[in-house]
Amino acid sequence: MRDSWNPETYHRFKSERSQPFHDLCAMLEPHPGMRAADLGCGPGDMTVRLHQQLAARETIGLDSSPNMLAQALPRAGQGLSFLQGRIEEFPLEGRFDLIFSNAALQWLEHHEALFEQFAARLAPGGQLAVQVPYNEESEFHRAARDVATEFREPLKGYVRHLVALSPEGYAHLLYRLGFTEQQVLLRIYPHVMESLDAVVEWYRGSLLTAYEARLDAPAYERFVARYREILHERYSDSRPFFFPFPRILLWGKMPGEDKR
Ligand SMILES: C[S@@+](CC[C@H](N)C(=O)[O-])C[C@H]1O[C@@H](n2cnc3c(N)ncnc32)[C@H](O)[C@@H]1O
Repeated sequence: MRDSWNPETYHRFKSERSQPFHDLCAMLEPHPGMRAADLGCGPGDMTVRLHQQLAARETIGLDSSPNMLAQALPRAGQGLSFLQGRIEEFPLEGRFDLIFSNAALQWLEHHEALFEQFAARLAPGGQLAVQVPYNEESEFHRAARDVATEFREPLKGYVRHLVALSPEGYAHLLYRLGFTEQQVLLRIYPHVMESLDAVVEWYRGSLLTAYEARLDAPAYERFVARYREILHERYSDSRPFFFPFPRILLWGKMPGEDKR
């Protein structure tokens, strides 16, 4: 599979995409000398902010995309480093005071097993903070699945499904894994986009990368054109275009000494 992550396309909606990161940071309980991991760190700009905001002793950004890491690596230094690897393999040594992940875990399956793995790698009093989109049922995702069905052959039957649990599901999971404090929020981000086509551009930077990785360039362009066509059939292209985007933000803290 190709590395279809493109930092430029991803950053086109930087301010909209960074608000949930700030909201997730606001849920943290920082304390001096923290060791943090940022899973699916992308181009690393948010990892820098996290590291500085926590005044952390050490922060490691982990990402599987060489394209994204090429942007992140020059940002390393002063306790901040980046590593290429897969979140599900958790190739990081030792225990963490914070395991953080903004807009990345929706690409991974089996969240129960994944969170269990994270919980096992937290130090006493350690915190887990995760933000994932919760829009599997949105018309934009449905349209992408419809196009994927039309492209069944070149995609070899692949259809991208979001794997987030429900907010209640995460609350149960955190409780079961021994987090004695938790907050799980469902928040709708009210984006006002220039047009319907701007939403297509938004998804080119995220959801559609899963199809881009599996199609050759001309087939992918046909995929995007068909996606745009279906959306124009189903929506009126009002300008500006209102684009409400649901996300789950969750935070949990393990029992242990209070280091604040
Ligand atoms: C939408 S970006 C989010 C980047 C960053 N966290 C931010 O908030 O801007 C998702 C990132 O997750 C990474 N990713 C997806 N699946 C991954 C996996 N299995 N292991 C490691 N990184 C992964 C992608 O390469 C991409 O950089």
